Amino acid sequence: MRAARIHAHGVPADVVVEEVPDPEPGPGEVLVRVRAAAVNFPDVLILADRYQVSASPPFVPGSEFADVVEALGQGVTEPAVGSVVAGSTFTGAFAEKVAVSAKALRPVPPGLDMVEAAAFGVTYGTAYHALVTIGAAEPGEWATVLGAAGGVGSAAVDVGTRLGLRVVAAASSPERLAVARKLGAEAGVDYTTEDLKTRVRELTGGGTDVVVDPVGGDHAEAALRATRWGGRFVTVGFADGRIPRIPLNLVLLKGVIVRGLEVRSLRRHLPEAVPAADRALADLVAGGMRPLLGSVHPLASVAAALAEVGERRAVGKVVLDMNEERTGS
Ligand SMILES: NC(=O)c1ccc[n+]([C@@H]2O[C@H](COP(=O)([O-])OP(=O)(O)OC[C@H]3O[C@@H](n4cnc5c(N)ncnc54)[C@H](OP(=O)(O)O)[C@@H]3O)[C@@H](O)[C@H]2O)c1
Repeated sequence: MRAARIHAHGVPADVVVEEVPDPEPGPGEVLVRVRAAAVNFPDVLILADRYQVSASPPFVPGSEFADVVEALGQGVTEPAVGSVVAGSTFTGAFAEKVAVSAKALRPVPPGLDMVEAAAFGVTYGTAYHALVTIGAAEPGEWATVLGAAGGVGSAAVDVGTRLGLRVVAAASSPERLAVARKLGAEAGVDYTTEDLKTRVRELTGGGTDVVVDPVGGDHAEAALRATRWGGRFVTVGFADGRIPRIPLNLVLLKGVIVRGLEVRSLRRHLPEAVPAADRALADLVAGGMRPLLGSVHPLASVAAALAEVGERRAVGKVVLDMNEERTGS
């Protein structure tokens, strides 16, 4: 099969596409044909060995994929061969086939094609859990979303709006805010030119109910200061690269609830929340919700796709489509 591989930790340009043997599904694993794989920010960090967990070269990067189950490893009875699935893994998805734990797979909500299915699970699952499972957002409340044109951010704007929240989008340019407005955000704040705390307080008439923060850095404290008394601040990631340190006196004075979300461990800690979110998201897909696809690349352009995400140029999701004829490049 063809696979993208990196032979020593490095940058996207170091990733090469080559022929490698098909992976074999081990006990508890499933072999999935990969029609499409989405690029996520951690994929770039793992290449550079800057992620919390290391991958030893040579390895196939890629953590999110969709297509059909081809074979079952020892002890696995479902999903059946031929099932259409989406899934996530630490590495291995930027290839024509991937062997993963059967537990890492989930059904594809009816209505999504394979490129959309690959782009959907991580960002929309994260967005839903950040807003609802952890953020306890209720219809009519204000949600402020940082990095609102990125993968998680655009999904949070989309899901939030569809659930009846009033969304303030925060991003780094008028163009990126326009993307979020198109997804339903009621207002936008350019945090490179405007004071985030002041503008969010003005726009929401006193403070936002919920913050979803996949960015971190200096914007985190400004957004926390923009909450109303008793608001919820949900930390999701640190795309900025800097992990914020929040003064606890702010938390005390504002009565704000600061909570974290890590989707990978949610199934272990809150098992009932995962199927509930999957059902809610499938309903929204049935109502027409689709992930925002910023760009779709053939596998041969994997380095460009990774660079787009790593260099902060991505809008919505960047996806690899293994069917190169379809993308035509
Ligand atoms: N907790 C979880 O379970 C979970 C799940 C998925 C993702 N994440 C994390 O959430 C973060 C965002 O993921 P994503 O998929 O939304 O990524 P993304 O599509 O690359 O979006 C990240 C956004 O962050 C902003 N940003 C600010 N400073 C940046 C910088 N120095 N480099 C890159 N982007 C920067 C950018 O928006 P502006 O230019 O508009 O500021 C960008 O749109 C990542 O850290 C990821 O690891 C966590």
